[in-house]
Amino acid sequence: MKKIIITGGAGFIGSHVVRRFVNKYPDYLIINLDALTYAGNLENLTDIEDAPNYVFEKADITNREQLNAVFSKYDVTDIVHLAAESHVDRSILSPLDFVYTNVIGTVNLLEVAKEKWKGNYADHLFYHVSTDEVYGALGAEGLFTEETRYDPHSPYSASKAASDHFVRAYHDTYGIKVVVSNCSNNYGPYHFPEKLIPLMINNIINNKPLPVYGDGQYTRDWLYVKDHAVAIDLIFHEGKIGDTYNIGGFNEWKNIELVYLLCEQMDLKLGRAPGTSKQLITYVKDRPGHDRRYAIDAGKINRELGWMPSVTFEQGLSETIDWFLENTVWLNNITSGAYASYYDHQYENR
Ligand code: NAD
Ligand code: TYD
Repeated sequence: MKKIIITGGAGFIGSHVVRRFVNKYPDYLIINLDALTYAGNLENLTDIEDAPNYVFEKADITNREQLNAVFSKYDVTDIVHLAAESHVDRSILSPLDFVYTNVIGTVNLLEVAKEKWKGNYADHLFYHVSTDEVYGALGAEGLFTEETRYDPHSPYSASKAASDHFVRAYHDTYGIKVVVSNCSNNYGPYHFPEKLIPLMINNIINNKPLPVYGDGQYTRDWLYVKDHAVAIDLIFHEGKIGDTYNIGGFNEWKNIELVYLLCEQMDLKLGRAPGTSKQLITYVKDRPGHDRRYAIDAGKINRELGWMPSVTFEQGLSETIDWFLENTVWLNNITSGAYASYYDHQYENR
C-alpha cells in the first residue's frame, strides 16, 4: 500500500492534488504534511477531511525531528513535494524565508528520505513540484522547454532553482528516484487572494482599486489548477525517473488584457453596467526585477504522457469567478484571518 506524503497540501495547488489523490486512489494513504503558514488553509479541504484514506500532520519541512516523526509513524513510501513560500512579492521583502523553506526545507526532506529509504530506493519516489520561473524571462518570442538554461531573477525563483538542483543532485549522487515538474501560473478555486487573479476578483467584488504593476504588458501562461493536478497524477504514476516535465496552459495573456477580461466577466456576473469594474484599474509602481514574459512548451508531457489542458481559459476563468462568488465565507475567513484557527477547532481538540 502506498503511503504518500503530500507537502503543502493545505495550500492552493496542494489542496487540489490531495483531493484528487484521496478521491481517486482509495487504496493509498494520503498524508497531508503542512506547517500551516499564512498560505495554508485547511478550509480548502473540508470536503475530504473525514475520508478514511486521508490524514493531516502539522509539521514544518525545516524541522528534521518533526519530519522524522511523521516518516516513522506512517512508514512513508513516496513524497509529492509542494510546500514552499510561493509569492514573488513576499520574496522581495523577505528573501531569507524563501531560502529556509524552499532550499533548506527541501534538502531536509531529501535527507530524511535518503535516511529512511536507504538500501531500498527503487521502491520509493520523490516528486518535486517546481515553477517555470526558474528559467528566467522570455522576450516576445520563444517558449521554455525542459532544456532551457536556468536563469532565475527573483529571490523566489532563485530559491526554487536551488531546490530543483538539490533534488536532481540527490538522484545523481545517492540514487534516490526523483521526478521534477516545472509549471506556469496556476489559477482556480482556493487561490490565495494575494496572487493576480484572486486579488483582482476580490477587489472587484469589494469595489477596491485593481493594482496593475508597471505598464501591464507583462505576460503569463495561465494553467487551470485542476488540469495541473491531473498532470501531477500522471507524472507521479508514469513519469520517467530522473526526468523533468514542463506543464503549461498553452494560454498566454498580457496582465492588462487579463484584467480587462476579468472586469468584463465580473460586471456581467454581478449585474453591473459594462465598464464599471474597469474604472477601478490603477497602474502602480512596477515590481523590481519583474520578468517580462513566461510561456511553456508543454509538448513533452503531451507526447510522452498524453496530457493536455481540459478546459479553455474562458471556461476555467468563468468557473473560478463563480467559485469565488459562491464561496464568500471562505474568502471572508481569509481576509478576516479567521481561517488560521480552523486547525485548532478541528484537530487540536480531537
Ligand atoms: P501556496 O503558497 O498556496 O501553498 C504553500 C503551502 O506550503 C501552504 O499550505 C503552506 O502552509 C505550506 N508551507 C509553507 N512553508 C512550509 C514549511 N516550512 N513546512 C511545511 N509546509 C509549508 O503555494 P501554491 O501556489 O499552492 O504552490 C505550490 C507549489 O507549486 C510550490 O512549490 C510552488 O513553488 C509551485 N508552483 C506554484 C505556481 C502557482 O502558480 N501557484 C506555479 C508554479 C509552481
Ligand atoms: P503573481 O500572481 O504574483 O504571479 P507571478 O509573479 O509568480 O507570475 O503575478 C502575476 C503577474 O501579475 C505578474 O506579472 C505580476 C502582476 N501583478 C500585478 O500587476 N498586480 C498585482 O497586484 C499582482 C499580485 C501581480
